Amino acid sequence: MNPENRIRVVFLTPEMAPLAKTGGLADVTGALPRYLARNPEVEVAVIMPLHREVRKKNLPLKPVFEQLTVDWPGQEKAFSVREFQADGFRVYLIDNNRLFDRDYLYSRPEGDYPDNGERFAFFSLAALKTLQALSLKPDIIHAHDWQSAPAFAYLRHRPAADGFFDGTRLLFTIHNLAYQGLFPPDLLGRVGLPGHLFNPEDLEFYGQVNFLKAGLLYSDAISTVSPTYSREIQTAEFGCGLEGVLRKRSERLFGILNGIDYQDWNPETDPALPAHYSPGNLAGKSVCRLELLRHFNFSPDPVRPVVGMVSRLAGQKGFDLLVRSLDQLLKKELYLVILGTGEIEIQNLLVEAWRKYPDRLGLKIAFDDRLARLIYAGSDFFLIPSRYEPCGLTQMYSLRYGTVPVVRSTGGLKDTVFEFNPATLEGNGFLFQEYQTGPLVEAVSRALTFYRREPFWSRLVENGLGSNFSWEKSAEDYLNLYRQMLSWPAARFS
Ligand code: ADP
Ligand code: GLC
Repeated sequence: MNPENRIRVVFLTPEMAPLAKTGGLADVTGALPRYLARNPEVEVAVIMPLHREVRKKNLPLKPVFEQLTVDWPGQEKAFSVREFQADGFRVYLIDNNRLFDRDYLYSRPEGDYPDNGERFAFFSLAALKTLQALSLKPDIIHAHDWQSAPAFAYLRHRPAADGFFDGTRLLFTIHNLAYQGLFPPDLLGRVGLPGHLFNPEDLEFYGQVNFLKAGLLYSDAISTVSPTYSREIQTAEFGCGLEGVLRKRSERLFGILNGIDYQDWNPETDPALPAHYSPGNLAGKSVCRLELLRHFNFSPDPVRPVVGMVSRLAGQKGFDLLVRSLDQLLKKELYLVILGTGEIEIQNLLVEAWRKYPDRLGLKIAFDDRLARLIYAGSDFFLIPSRYEPCGLTQMYSLRYGTVPVVRSTGGLKDTVFEFNPATLEGNGFLFQEYQTGPLVEAVSRALTFYRREPFWSRLVENGLGSNFSWEKSAEDYLNLYRQMLSWPAARFS
């Protein structure tokens, strides 16, 4: 532990809200450090790339190092480091124009950047170098997703000669097992990792280099973002080919449910909303609903329920199932509004559907945080038909904004949404199991039967508003895991 006897935790992450965000990972790495840092026993720092998106925000960034270098095959590669002071912790930003000053974080709509392997290997190595240059010796390096996993490969297989990281424990969090960072075998040499790691016991995976495996194999502990997902990923159905690796490490695999930031996501204060409301007085929610209908040019229909969706447009999120279900779904008296951005094929499917049903389907292809918040607040129901969902935050935001989730029973959705029971008035939403049109449409129909029918409706909304998914508990769980890791024999990297 560092001299003040505090546990020093350093997050490595490719994104963090509000600096740069494509999905829930950013929400987690933006909120969890703040909650951890509230505990005087913990000191937290975050390291992430200086993406163009961060630059464009014109935040006060302090220069820390004008020029650091890492050993890179054939040359030394330079970067600079800037610092952003977040609420309770510092964020160190790795600045290399050529690699990070780009329109998108990882992929254009037509596909991934071809040099993502180099980009994030470099980020990982530069992050370690930054810690050394700062003399900031971590007790725990907490790396998130495949983009920061190469750090653990460098630590284990190209350790700092001075033993700087000896004693540091390594935690890897899987936010999404399907994104593994797969690259051709020659990548190892190009990023300065030893070629012998290209074997099945290390980073080889069906003929490619798999960066995520570095996080799974070289960490002291692995966590993932819900208890159900931690079990699912040990099965062939959800393990994405890595179930064997995960089963082998099951004693070191922990499922900790994400929280949501109750300060940031609060219908009583959210500046994105045209009116505010609280569990005790929901009048403002109707104003948000009207504004949402207006936004999508729908008539202000007081009776027809609004079903909202806010999502990355990715295979995971179940849009193929949604589109297949639309004919049946939109026969019902409802409006469906969708905000999303991502894969071009899914965009095209949705645009086509919108052309067919312009009077009931509202579609916005964009990343728009304000509109997302209006949808959480202004919808009556929120639909998440995911194929799989490691945790999912949008169902929790919906509950927090008094909107009833209808979700597929998988991963973290299963751990946070509970089927409403009209006999006991318990439960906060509606679930379906099979990834098929029938069950999805039935779940929506079930939900609609209770729409504005008392006493059911008030209880449903109340039960949602009363759920507690604040970060306080989850941050405590992470802290306990850090403590447990520190009780394990100290690692040496040499
Ligand atoms: P994932 O990380 O798989 O995308 P999550 O449910 O964990 O799913 O988190 C999604 C986060 O991204 C939420 O904060 C959601 O509001 C946000 N989000 C997703 N798509 C959009 C969009 N098009 N515009 C604004 N916010 C979005
Ligand atoms: C991933 C998952 C999502 C989870 C988020 C934050 O993007 O897809 O389910 O909520 O990470 O952990």
